[in-house]
Amino acid sequence: MGRDYRRNPTKEKCFFSTTPVYPTPVCILWAVMPSEMRSLVIGASGGIGAALARELAQHGEVVTLSRSVDGVDVTEEDSVAAALDRLDGSFDLVFVATGALGTPEKSLRALSSDELAAQFAVNTIGPALVLKHAVRLLPRGRRSVFAALSARVGSIGDNRLGGWYAYRASKAALNQMLHGASVEIARTHPEAIVALLHPGTVATSFTQDYPANNKVTPSEAARDLIRVLESLSPSQSGGFFDYAGNPIPW
Ligand SMILES: NC(=O)c1ccc[n+]([C@@H]2O[C@H](COP(=O)([O-])OP(=O)(O)OC[C@H]3O[C@@H](n4cnc5c(N)ncnc54)[C@H](OP(=O)(O)O)[C@@H]3O)[C@@H](O)[C@H]2O)c1
Repeated sequence: MGRDYRRNPTKEKCFFSTTPVYPTPVCILWAVMPSEMRSLVIGASGGIGAALARELAQHGEVVTLSRSVDGVDVTEEDSVAAALDRLDGSFDLVFVATGALGTPEKSLRALSSDELAAQFAVNTIGPALVLKHAVRLLPRGRRSVFAALSARVGSIGDNRLGGWYAYRASKAALNQMLHGASVEIARTHPEAIVALLHPGTVATSFTQDYPANNKVTPSEAARDLIRVLESLSPSQSGGFFDYAGNPIPW
């Protein structure tokens, strides 16, 4: 099963290219990103993070950081600060692709304070610490994007099934954290966009224990996410969007 773009507001602005570099629809809006953009991907060892780094490399320089390759643990502020403080210059895009599912709880009886704390540490506090130390890498005088992978199951308005308490709550808290930060960042970086993204169900180690017939490849997901980021304007900063660019209820 493929992606559903029916409600994608950017779809009409896309066309099919015959070049091998762009085998999927290319959005005219791509033109608003610099032709040679500089990107930073944190969590580039993950399924989606690695695919993002590969796709973004077709559009310019990509700096990658991850726990398994570079020792950057997003739950440790010293580790985040040391890695980001070493970087010079500005980035058009900073993308946080880290995250963990833990052991999703099926019922209240399964709640554990350790699991809740661990999920908040990696899914909420981690990306927030990255943003804290990455603001200085965003240019003030031109468009830039800070994106983090959230998840649709973090939506409170969309939660009709219950369960998965720690993961859902950690993503809802991430949404609140970055939405709030977007308000503050707009004061100093009026052209910056902070975006929370749901990548869809993507075939990575993250989903390997969860059979689903609608999984997309990490490369497809990466192209979709880049296309969404390209379509956003600063007035949409702080929003929560799916892979087709549709807003998701909080
Ligand atoms: N796959 C999906 O269907 C799906 C759906 C909705 C949302 N998401 C979200 O997308 C994000 C990435 O998912 P994925 O499918 O790419 O998962 P993945 O392949 O399991 O990758 C997870 C990434 O997170 C990193 N990571 C975990 N804990 C970390 C820590 N404490 N410090 C630094 N890095 C850490 C891992 O680093 P190392 O491997 O180097 O340790 C790895 O790079 C997650 O936030 C997830 O919630 C995924």
